[in-house]
This record gives sequence, C-alpha cells and structure tokens, in this order.
Amino acid sequence: MKAKKEAGMKLIITIDGPAGSGKSTVSRILAKRFGYLYLDTGAMYRAVALQAAREGRSLADRRALRRLCMGLDLQFRSENGENRLFLSGEDISEAIRSPEMDRLSSTLSAYKEVRKIMTKIQRRLGSEGGVVAEGRDMGTIVFPEAEFKFFLTADLEVRAQRRYLERTIRGESVCLENVKKDLIERDQQDTNRVLSPLRPAEDAVTIDSTYLNADEVVDIMLKMIREG
Ligand code: DC
Repeated sequence: MKAKKEAGMKLIITIDGPAGSGKSTVSRILAKRFGYLYLDTGAMYRAVALQAAREGRSLADRRALRRLCMGLDLQFRSENGENRLFLSGEDISEAIRSPEMDRLSSTLSAYKEVRKIMTKIQRRLGSEGGVVAEGRDMGTIVFPEAEFKFFLTADLEVRAQRRYLERTIRGESVCLENVKKDLIERDQQDTNRVLSPLRPAEDAVTIDSTYLNADEVVDIMLKMIREG
C-alpha cells in the first residue's frame, strides 16, 4: 500500500456505516481533498428504488427487478461542486431522498438480483482507483482490496438528530420520533440481511462520530492516510 502511495498511484478509500453516521459529508470532503471520485452507493440503491416505484413494480417479480437494474442509465456528475445523480439524463438527486425511498432502497438492497448488478457497476467505477466509496459493504464485499477502510458510527440519538435537521433544512415537515423509528428499522434491516450485511471489515478502522463534527472525522482519517 505504501509503495502504491509513494508511486503516486490512486487509492481506494472505503467508508461504511449506518444511516446518519456522517458518512456522506465526510466522504464528500475527503474525495474533494484528493480530487477523487465520490462514489455514493446508497444513491445507486435509491435510484433502483425510485425507478421500481415509478414503474409500479411488484417486489416479488425478481426477474423484472433484475432487468430494471440492468437497464438503468446512471451517471454521477459534479455540478457547482455538488455531487448529483442522473437517471437517463434526469437529475434525481432530490427525488431519491424521501422517507419512502429510504425504506424501499433498504428493502430492495437485500435482494441478490439487485446487489449483484450494483456491485458489478460499483467495481467498474472504482477499477482505476482514485475513489472514495461510501456505503454498507464497500470494505467487506465491493472493494476488499481497498488501501484504507473506515467504519463510521454514532449513537442513535445523534444520528436521528442529524437526519431530522437535514430534512427540516430541506423544508420537510418531520417529527424526530418518526425519524428515529425509521432509522432503527433501517439499521435492523441493513444489519440483519443475509447478503452483504452492514458490518465493519476486519481491517477497517472504526471511528465514533458521536462527539465529533465532520471536519474532525476527516482530520483523523487524513492523519491515518498520511501515516499509512
Ligand atoms: O446510504 P443510504 O442511506 O443512502 O442507503 C440507502 C439504502 O441502500 C440503505 O438502507 C441500504 C442500502 N445500501 C446497501 O445495501 N449497500 C450499500 N453499499 C449502500 C446502501
């Protein structure tokens, strides 16, 4: 790994963790610092959910879901310094962030037909290195060879507060208790599924962000990357 870094080669950095642990903010900052691609894999599962909902797909029809995944035309683009996701040319960055998409993406991400295709696309996007990959199984399944692996956690209360604030800022009317309930449900679903469950890779460094802001977490990561 050191040799790769010294040779100026591009690294793979993975950041996994539960919803609300601060992964997205930290991944975005880190990717910017290195000039790397920010690979938001949660957004990809959300895009599958959005398309399935729009097509009124029955979740029981796994073959149709597989076809849907294979036909998805997804593109990450940076616009005005922001990471946006496009589906067949349409900017879906906002549409995928609803509570309905929270739930549906979590449900669909447990299906092997969906995971198999998403994993393949994610590996292709990261094949050249130079990527900060954020999700649930980046360090364990998608990029087991990554040079740096982090697992971000935070207490449930703090994660719920962060999600609540995010949604309120977006102008949504939400109740903290419901946000918390949804997080608990999603944590359980993402952690207890059979395929690629949420868990730290054996060689991941776990960082608890309960009492740290995003810049402080990034500083810890940068220090480890520089020393690594
Ligand atoms: O990170 P997020 O909240 O945007 O992810 C939405 C859902 O997608 C999450 O509940 C679980 C799933 N997901 C996954 O199974 N594997 C990933 N690598 C990323 C997300």
